Amino acid sequence: MSSTLALPVTDPALEARLRERLAVVEKALYAHVQSRYPYVTEAASHLLDAGGKRFRPFLVLLAAETGPRPADDAVVTAACIVEITHVGSLYHDDVMDEAALRRGADSANARWDNLVAILTGDFLFAKSSELTATLGSEAVRIQAETFTRLVEGQILETVAPGPDEDPLEHYLEVVAGKTGSLIATSARYGARFGGAPREVEEALAEYGEIVGSAFQLSDDILDVASETAESGKTPGTDLREGVPTLPVLMAKASTDPADARLLELLDADLSDDALHAEALELLRRHPAMDQARAYVVARAQEAKARLAAVPEGPVRDALEAFADAVAIRST
Ligand code: IPE
Ligand code: IPE
Ligand code: MG
Ligand code: MG
Repeated sequence: MSSTLALPVTDPALEARLRERLAVVEKALYAHVQSRYPYVTEAASHLLDAGGKRFRPFLVLLAAETGPRPADDAVVTAACIVEITHVGSLYHDDVMDEAALRRGADSANARWDNLVAILTGDFLFAKSSELTATLGSEAVRIQAETFTRLVEGQILETVAPGPDEDPLEHYLEVVAGKTGSLIATSARYGARFGGAPREVEEALAEYGEIVGSAFQLSDDILDVASETAESGKTPGTDLREGVPTLPVLMAKASTDPADARLLELLDADLSDDALHAEALELLRRHPAMDQARAYVVARAQEAKARLAAVPEGPVRDALEAFADAVAIRST
């Protein structure tokens, strides 16, 4: 089971409403990934069955509370769209990262093979697009632009920064694309289909973009710091794949001679188990980990500052707590 991000909602009435709607979303998700072919349904439900935090649909439901129609059918549909898009991207991501575990279960590429994983990811994107069409052409345009950014981010991650490019800037661009984009759209869809005013929708989209990037950065920290039991994934996957995430980039900036071995390993091929374990251990103990955590906390503060357009009250409190929960999950 993957790690949980407990609902950061202290208002009991709000919490009860959100839980109830999440249950509706959960049921609808399964209905939306049905195929006329049982084999396709099985592959497409595999990662839904495995669990996951449902962080994006939760954000849709919470953001919808800023408008007069938080329980509208379109809000539930929007919550399904973002989760199905996300799950589709996970099928593809595990192929590109050669990951064997996802949500505490075998990844689709491990359970079947790359071909099944890629085509099931495509099937899920097609399903989410079909669903988006029921919300009108603006919703389709937003989903398409979001998916463009997500895929660009995933591709950019595989391309080394140019000689004149700052590696951290390059990575932040990757993160904003592959993760910030869909979380921004989750917040935007919630506000939009809940009927919130335009300025609230824009503010929430900006908030979601920053929270989404912070969420990815805290995931990068957890990739180094956590064990499979907590994350449902194999620790050190980014390191093994040579993806230079935030803690790695911060460690690489070190000029301390005591870091010579770590820096050497970070530039080496870490497909060897012993070298990989050594690098992971050295990185876990390195001050770059705390530096990366402080960076994420600062991003969460920045996200919260975007909430001025949301009226004060339990919904804004929950949006603030949500940003904090993202930041502290890596501490
Ligand atoms: C995993 O997302 C990919 C990242 C953007 C870090 P989540 O951490 O939201 O994964 P699930 O949905 O809970 O499995
Ligand atoms: C997450 O990629 C981004 C997307 C799936 C679009 P990562 O590779 O960073 O996330 P995990 O660690 O596999 O969940
Ligand atoms: Mg991955
Ligand atoms: Mg990846």
